[in-house]
Amino acid sequence: MCGISGIVSSENIAKDLFSSIRNLEYRGYDSCGLAVYAEGKIQLRKNTGEVDEVNKKERLTQLVGNLGIAHTRWATHGGVTKENSHPHFSANMEFAIVHNGIFSNYQKLKSELSAEGFEFRSMTDSEVFAHLVERAYAQSPNVENAFVSSLLQVEGAFATAMISIHEPDLLFCAKNVSPLMLGLGESRNFIGSDINAFLEFTKTAVTLDDGEYAIVGKQDYRIKDVATKEEKEKNVFTIHWDVESTKKGGYSHYMLKEIFDQPFTTKQALKIEKEEIEKMAKMIQQSQLCYLVGVGTTFYVSMVGQYFFAQFAKRHLPAVSSDEFKDIAILSDKNMMLTVSQSGETYDTKMAINFAKSFQSKTGAIVNVMGSAISMMVDNVIMQGSGAEICVVSTKAAFSQMMILLRIVLEVARLDNHLSEDQYKEYYTALEDFPDVIETALNEQSGFIRNMADTSVKIHNWLFLGCGVYFPVAMESALKMKEVTYLHAEGMATGFLKHGTLAMIDESLYSLFFVPPPDQIDLHERTLIAIEEIKARGGKVYGFIFEGDEKSEQLLDHLIRLPKVHFLVAPFLEMIMAQLFAYYSALKLNRNIDKPRNLAKSVTVA
Ligand code: AGP
Repeated sequence: MCGISGIVSSENIAKDLFSSIRNLEYRGYDSCGLAVYAEGKIQLRKNTGEVDEVNKKERLTQLVGNLGIAHTRWATHGGVTKENSHPHFSANMEFAIVHNGIFSNYQKLKSELSAEGFEFRSMTDSEVFAHLVERAYAQSPNVENAFVSSLLQVEGAFATAMISIHEPDLLFCAKNVSPLMLGLGESRNFIGSDINAFLEFTKTAVTLDDGEYAIVGKQDYRIKDVATKEEKEKNVFTIHWDVESTKKGGYSHYMLKEIFDQPFTTKQALKIEKEEIEKMAKMIQQSQLCYLVGVGTTFYVSMVGQYFFAQFAKRHLPAVSSDEFKDIAILSDKNMMLTVSQSGETYDTKMAINFAKSFQSKTGAIVNVMGSAISMMVDNVIMQGSGAEICVVSTKAAFSQMMILLRIVLEVARLDNHLSEDQYKEYYTALEDFPDVIETALNEQSGFIRNMADTSVKIHNWLFLGCGVYFPVAMESALKMKEVTYLHAEGMATGFLKHGTLAMIDESLYSLFFVPPPDQIDLHERTLIAIEEIKARGGKVYGFIFEGDEKSEQLLDHLIRLPKVHFLVAPFLEMIMAQLFAYYSALKLNRNIDKPRNLAKSVTVA
């Protein structure tokens, strides 16, 4: 799980190449490097640390040349060391490569190459590829042939890019499972793990499919099949993202910016054509059983979907975590799965889709990144249009996915006659009013939430509790808290308490309740029972509540009071407040908010 980029141009590229891996840094950030060709030689500079740090140490932007590749790493094989950073040279330094993913048969290849006298400089699986190309080129001096014959020897999920002194005007790249795209500019072309690599330079792109390789010059490019070397016709598409949406826009962190983007991204989710929503709804309606599938945050998004499908459409759509899908799903050509993914590249989710496809089940997806693998793999995709999400933790993308799922639910409910036209209109009005509600709440509540965070960072163990749809909201909120603060937060259904967890409660244990509006009588009562259960045992209780909830006001030790809203959007407003709570807690703790330790934005490996 790393970021790859490359540029071939008629001008000096080092600054732009550096900028491109800076824009990919959320994919991995423990080390980085650049390899640039000039005057018969490849200059390679790399080191450990974040991109800006490495630039200071190694003066990456001062490299000179018109052709180069770059990499930002999230270590898998081989520790975080300068030697293990990318790019990697071949033994004779005539080829330099970068690699994302895993060459699963590298150990066998490494032993073979070592026996032939190739000396390895790193502990990575990646380096084998550079030596393979050198060996193939020595046998038959043609760079394309050497590149392809090396590709035929490696196995696994990977994307790789290469430059060589023997082809000083060309970038070579290929992919299998891991993502790779081309960006097409004027008198210069780009390659990148995703569109953020080149979005500031061009909005015209081509996606590489598995088993394809590309030879990219500054004016043209060719994409071919690795197995046959036959040239392929590919779709060129325009990226509709705004470069500004990838910048911090005055906020101190991308996370905060992306939380504050949510009124806008909600509007975008509501602007998705009704026909698209209807098409997905009909697919679901026509399936015997539809699974909702995602992992991490998108699993919780799927759980929210499951609750809403039951509540409004009277249908059971089981939410399953992608990594567990093949262990639990019963599939056939009558069934379907609807996956949710911000990046569209998540390995576990891709594997789940492939598994469903092997049973001829139908596949659908809600995806944010255009041209991503998942968006191309499924029978029907809804592009959510939330703009680039740069912070490693997902906020605005997940939020939009919930809005889109809710729209699909309402459509299925309407088609199945479980909603009257009046109810349908009422719910849509609530959704349309929601962006302004979010905007106001963000502005009015930030100060209070910051204060709550500042005074509670000494708390190292949290229970986040909710019932009904507030349960997955609590789970997702706990994940946000864990990711950015590194503190323990456990999401749980309120009803679980008396079945075991109450044993933990004493005055050192804090809980945060997601309290529904009082007019949600059943959910509200169940939540209050749980608050009382904890209070009776000396535990401290915090809560998000809505205006007019006097009972909760009396019970809670610390509360955030939100304006009255329609019950449909109430859990989501509390979720946004929990995002802010996680953000401000992490800020107080001085955490690396946009790039939390040990995490990466797209988890493209097993
Ligand atoms: C979210 O904050 C997480 N970093 C993570 O759980 C993420 O949601 C998960 O890896 C799925 O990613 P995707 O949406 O890109 O498929």
